[in-house]
Amino acid sequence: MNVGYCQTHPEFGEVQRNIEQVASRLDSVDCDLLVLPEFAFSGYQFISQEEVFELSERVPDGPTTQACMELARRHRMHLVVGLPEKAGQHCYNSAIVVGPSGFLGCYRKTHVFCEETLFFRPGDSGFQVWDIGPARIGVMICFDWYYPEAARTLAVQGADIVCHPSNLVLPHCPDAMVTRCLENRIFSITANRIGREARGGKSPLTFIGKSEIVSPKGHILSRASADAPELTVVDIDVEEARNKSINPYNDLLKDRRPGYYAS
Ligand code: ACM
Repeated sequence: MNVGYCQTHPEFGEVQRNIEQVASRLDSVDCDLLVLPEFAFSGYQFISQEEVFELSERVPDGPTTQACMELARRHRMHLVVGLPEKAGQHCYNSAIVVGPSGFLGCYRKTHVFCEETLFFRPGDSGFQVWDIGPARIGVMICFDWYYPEAARTLAVQGADIVCHPSNLVLPHCPDAMVTRCLENRIFSITANRIGREARGGKSPLTFIGKSEIVSPKGHILSRASADAPELTVVDIDVEEARNKSINPYNDLLKDRRPGYYAS
């Protein structure tokens, strides 16, 4: 199975132009599953609720989801893409899952980060797993990595691959994902962005790049640079994520002792 990340450099608010830039990079790509960043086409540093509301879109009938469905159909691939979602009067930091047959679902970020808490409701979708044929995929968004329960929940639900749209600003996540994969025997695909945003007099945010694909044994199969757009695809064997045996005596998930864990 060919899986990849698309590390981008979106321009804030230029949704259509940012979509076109990614679309133009897909023609030469042979990929079954491609992950794009959190807020892939809108940009990240919102300065008011009005601005958030203006750039948030309904799912699945908004323009970003519709454009991604068309790209997935044309290129016969699955896409996981972050976007600001509008549902009634509320906005969520969400990621859609689409494939050649259309819209599959939407995950709403559970652990909203920093000033996101001013504008976005904590997600209420819960963690979900989609069977896309060659693999079962789950989604978590950026800061969800800080909570090991997120990746663990997806692994317990049967995810082979955790798709992880991100707009990382802290330095630790690329290394931490090695542990998330080891402790769950899963693949992860973190798609981050690059560049800097300093809007409305706010402190500048520098996005760290370093998008990454990690194997269930904790090997970094690909890590992007900190400062250039990049689309990378690697061939993986999904079966590696389905064997949870650590040794003849230990099975990673069966040996858990939930009765002793705090909730
Ligand atoms: C983040 O959750 N965007 C750091």
